[in-house]
Amino acid sequence: MAEDTARLTLRDLARLKARGEKIAMLTAYDATFAAVLDRAGVEVLLVGDTLGPLVQGQPTTLPVSMDEMVYHCRAVVRGARRALVMADMPFLSYTDAAAALANAGRLLKEAGVQMVKLECSPAQEGIVAALAAEGIPVCAHLGLRPQSVHKLGGYRVQGRDPAAAEALLEAAARLEAAGADLLLLEAVPAALAGRVRAQAGVPVIGIGAGPDCDGQVLVLYDLLGLTERLPRFAKNFLAEADGVEAAVRAYVAAVKTGRFPGPEHSY
Ligand code: KIV
Repeated sequence: MAEDTARLTLRDLARLKARGEKIAMLTAYDATFAAVLDRAGVEVLLVGDTLGPLVQGQPTTLPVSMDEMVYHCRAVVRGARRALVMADMPFLSYTDAAAALANAGRLLKEAGVQMVKLECSPAQEGIVAALAAEGIPVCAHLGLRPQSVHKLGGYRVQGRDPAAAEALLEAAARLEAAGADLLLLEAVPAALAGRVRAQAGVPVIGIGAGPDCDGQVLVLYDLLGLTERLPRFAKNFLAEADGVEAAVRAYVAAVKTGRFPGPEHSY
């Protein structure tokens, strides 16, 4: 218990937003990398369900189970002393409020994470409210939602046309009103992310959402240049760094100074 008093909290993230300091977030799946990222100053570690494709060799994030999430979250929580640890809720683990509470409860109680992330549309409003009512910090993931890849017909930029942009703005407002403590925007036009940020009271984290966000997240293996095809919005920071920790420090510095993402990483 004692070491958790040193961990960053939602209040720290709100303070960073209030003073205009960008939040640096990365995915992590194990204790060793979690410790490196923590030392390098990353404020939020996301145990993402990208562990399916990246750690397990699955074709998508869909097969990741609750037991697997708990296992990886435990490792990351053990490795990181300062960072807030956020866990992805796997596909179909939050189909109703009861399931969401039971599964988010496991991530907080058994794995020790401080926050959960759900891929959201307005349909998840009641679930976000139920989690918030029990004091569970929630990040609402909007825009490209990889768990809906088959419905979306691929990993495509979202919110490009005016109707889709308005729908996303409304969804963000409704989910925040329902109790979301953080919004995460994946693969949306930079201008739309700026509009979400302008209306939001909570921090807005982007991945492929341009520079006008309160913070950025990247998939660790993209940052290290390990993935086969680097998405447009990512950057290999290891290419110009002297080792993994230096690459992560370079990422944190680039986010904090607004040098990353640049226009070449945005839509
Ligand atoms: O699972 C994950 O790694 C994510 C990031 C892409 C934000 O959700």
